[in-house]
Amino acid sequence: MQPTSRDPSASGEAAQPPRWVPVAASDELREDVGIERAVEGQLLALFRHGGQVYAIEALCAHHGGPLAEGQVVGGCVTCPWHGWQYQLADGVHTGSGTPLIGSYPAREVEGRIEVQI
Ligand code: FES
Repeated sequence: MQPTSRDPSASGEAAQPPRWVPVAASDELREDVGIERAVEGQLLALFRHGGQVYAIEALCAHHGGPLAEGQVVGGCVTCPWHGWQYQLADGVHTGSGTPLIGSYPAREVEGRIEVQI
């Protein structure tokens, strides 16, 4: 799921196609230990879990807890502040089944982590 963004056509700006942006070196991202990165005006939490890399919005939809500091289990991260859980793959809040935070396509290429934004 791509996060909702403003409509650039409303302001006369040309829409930019999504592109892959390098956000970290591969060795910065350890299994089940999140890191936070600011990327083009978005604060993202990056994770490596089960052979995949993931990028979701960094701040919890509840009260802005730092999701990169959360515990990762079974493809989900638990917010360290009050325990809300989100699926890494799509930002779905497991309690409601609703995508409460944005997620971004992420990949690992030639020793770096890239996010499509
Ligand atoms: S701020 Fe994340 S659960 Fe409350």
